[in-house]
Formats: sequence, C-alpha cells, structure tokens
Amino acid sequence: MSYPAASGAQSPASKPLRVGIIGCGKIAINHVHALQAIEGVEVSAVVDVDAQRARAFADAYGIRHAFDDVDAMLSSGIEVATVCTPHPAHEANVLAAARHGVHVLCEKPIAVDLDQADRMIAATDAAGVRFGVVFQRRFWPAAQRIRAAIDEGRMTAPITGSVIARFRRDAEYYAEPWRGRWDTEGGGVLINQAIHHVDLLLWFMGPAKRVFGRIATLAHGEFIEVEDTAVATIEFESGALATIHASTTFDPGHGVQVLVSDRAGNTASVLEFPEGTGLTDVWSVGDEREYRDPYADAFRAGQPFDIPIAEIHGGLVPYHALQIAEFIDAVRNGREPVVTGREARKSLAVIAAIYESSKTGMPIDLAATRSAGANAVTTAA
Ligand SMILES: NC(=O)c1ccc[n+]([C@@H]2O[C@H](COP(=O)([O-])OP(=O)(O)OC[C@H]3O[C@@H](n4cnc5c(N)ncnc54)[C@H](O)[C@@H]3O)[C@@H](O)[C@H]2O)c1
Repeated sequence: MSYPAASGAQSPASKPLRVGIIGCGKIAINHVHALQAIEGVEVSAVVDVDAQRARAFADAYGIRHAFDDVDAMLSSGIEVATVCTPHPAHEANVLAAARHGVHVLCEKPIAVDLDQADRMIAATDAAGVRFGVVFQRRFWPAAQRIRAAIDEGRMTAPITGSVIARFRRDAEYYAEPWRGRWDTEGGGVLINQAIHHVDLLLWFMGPAKRVFGRIATLAHGEFIEVEDTAVATIEFESGALATIHASTTFDPGHGVQVLVSDRAGNTASVLEFPEGTGLTDVWSVGDEREYRDPYADAFRAGQPFDIPIAEIHGGLVPYHALQIAEFIDAVRNGREPVVTGREARKSLAVIAAIYESSKTGMPIDLAATRSAGANAVTTAA
C-alpha cells in the first residue's frame, strides 16, 4: 500500500485550523515551516518548558502565543498539536492533548517503552482524536517506490532484508543534556537514529515475529551510557529473515542502507547518504536495473561525508512537510493518518525486544507484545 498524495487543501469557507507546537528545539523548525506552508493552517501557539525559548521561537515565526505550560497552550483554542520534545516527554504531552480533545502528531519514537505507547494509543482512541507519529522518511520517493513495487506485485513480499546504519555522532552532539542517557533519551542509536530505518524495513517486510540482538557501548562510553552499537536478527511472521547493524561510531558517517529482496531475486534499496537524503542505490526489479554509488561520487568530488545536524534536518523539511500535510488532511477529513500510533508502535516493539534480548541473552517473541494493551516483552522459549 502506498500513501495517498498529501494534501493541505481545505474548503475555502472554513476558518483556519489552529495548531500548536510542543517543544521549540531543533526539529520544531521543520514543523513550523511545514505547517505554515499549508493553506488554512495557523500556528497560533507554542510551548516549551523554557519560557524564553518559547518566546524567541514565537517571535521568530510570527506566532501569537508562547506558553511555558502545556495545559495552558492546549486550552488556548488549538485543534491540533505537534510534539517535538525529548522522548520521555512524548507520553505526557500526547496524553495531555487527548485530555484537551486535541489531535496530536508526535515526533518519533512514539515513546521509550511499549507501556507508554499503549497508554498513548488508548488515551487518543478514548478521546476520539487523531494520533500520528512522524516517520517522514516513508515519504522519500525511493521508499515509496519500493512499497509501490510490492503493492503492484512487481516485487512479491520480501524474503530477506537488512538495515546497515553507519552514523557519526560525537561528544558535541551528546553534550545536549537529554541525549545519551537511558532516563532522558530512552536508548541510543536504535531508538533515536536507526528507528526510521527499522520502520522502513517493517513497512516493506511486514510483521516481525522474533528478535535476537545485542547492544553495546563500544566507543562513546566516556560521554554516553546508551548503546552506540547494535546488531540484531529479525524473523518475520512470513518466515522472512533480516538483519540490523547500527552504530554511531563511524568517522566519517556512511549513512544508512535499507535493502530488501524477494523470492524471485528482485532487489531494491533506499540509501540515506548523505544523511537526510534518501535515494535509490540498488534497483534490480524485473528487467529494470539501476545502480548508484554516491560514496564514490562524493569521494571523487571531495564532498564531505558528514554534514551538520541543522543541514540534515534542512534536507528533511520537504518530507516533514508531506507527512504533516497528510496528517492535517486526515484531521480535516475524519480519517486515520498513514502513520498511526499503532503503526509507529511496531518499530518500537522491535527495538524494545532488541534491548530485552541483549539483557537476557535470549531471543524475544513479539507475539505477546503485538496488540496495544498486551505490554510484556517475553523471552522466546
Ligand atoms: N523526524 C526526524 O527526522 C527527527 C529529527 C530530529 C529529532 N527528532 C525528534 O524530535 C524530538 C525533539 O528533538 P530535537 O532534536 O528537536 O530536540 P531539542 O533538544 O533540540 O528540542 C527539544 C525541546 O523540547 C523542550 N522540552 C523538553 N521537555 C519538554 C516538555 N515536557 N514540554 C515542553 N517542552 C519541552 C526543550 O526545552 C527543547 O526546547 C525528539 O523526539 C527527536 O527524536 C526527529
């Protein structure tokens, strides 16, 4: 299934849809650009625990109201909120939105554990508000092309796949107080960076059944306590098999490849290189053959492999724009968004199982964690 074209259209007579942003840090910039480009949407309020940051953000983007209290912002007449806070604050903010009857689009990861995710899904269901989670890399044409090939039967269900994520993150990146700690980030390379690519792998390959994994802090132990490296195998309900290798220790970073292949040998991948940019590097589907080697191209051209975080985010703005417009369209038309809380829970379930597997040394069966409400991650027999 591919996504419907994103649309920001509204009926001309309707009044502006008021939107508020929770958390005025780096990724909130992508949200405000995306929202302010949608016809009939007004970003009318922002909130941050840091009042000065909220005020400065509001002034920079011409937003009327700045708050330092989430409940006050949510009762200021907004109909939609987007959550751009660190991970452990996602649950409280989504629950607050549900309490106020406000539709809510939350940044990834949905949460830091499945209990939180299930409470968020249950609360938004009960309140009758739309709940979406940002996985804007699904909107890359290279990713949509693979999903469309599967939907159209040009590829059958993949039987094997891989995520190879080779990031560079350094002490400066982790100097931000919430990063690098279990209680404030909820994990490392898996839950923060590679979750996007785990989401793509699951979107292409279907439901995961069993996970076996190992995490470690191999290079960055002086400044982080979470994992900088992870390896895992995934067995799918279909019988398909995949691997994940993710690390923030590469210097320079070499981006991420998500590759899938079907029984007939049709093979396709999305390469994120440089970071923030998604392209097709392997396309061998039916008689079609396309190959690109962006590493060699960048090396020959003397281009840096790593680009600053702000530029990575800048490259993602068009895809945030597509997903945010799609969410607004879902709200306006009373339908589910394409990436619901339940959909976003799937990548968290796999990552939580890798963490658990690494702790216990055992494979983890995902069956018991599948439905919202069944929270336990169980060790496979
Ligand atoms: N989709 C993507 O590609 C992408 C990229 C970067 C970050 N993110 C996600 O966006 C979120 C924020 O990341 P960031 O890099 O913008 O972080 P950041 O540190 O730059 O900004 C976070 C902001 O939230 C504020 N904040 C913290 N707790 C709060 C609370 N309880 N209520 C209100 N405000 C609060 C902080 O003061 C800060 O201004 C994270 O979930 C992160 O994983 C997504």
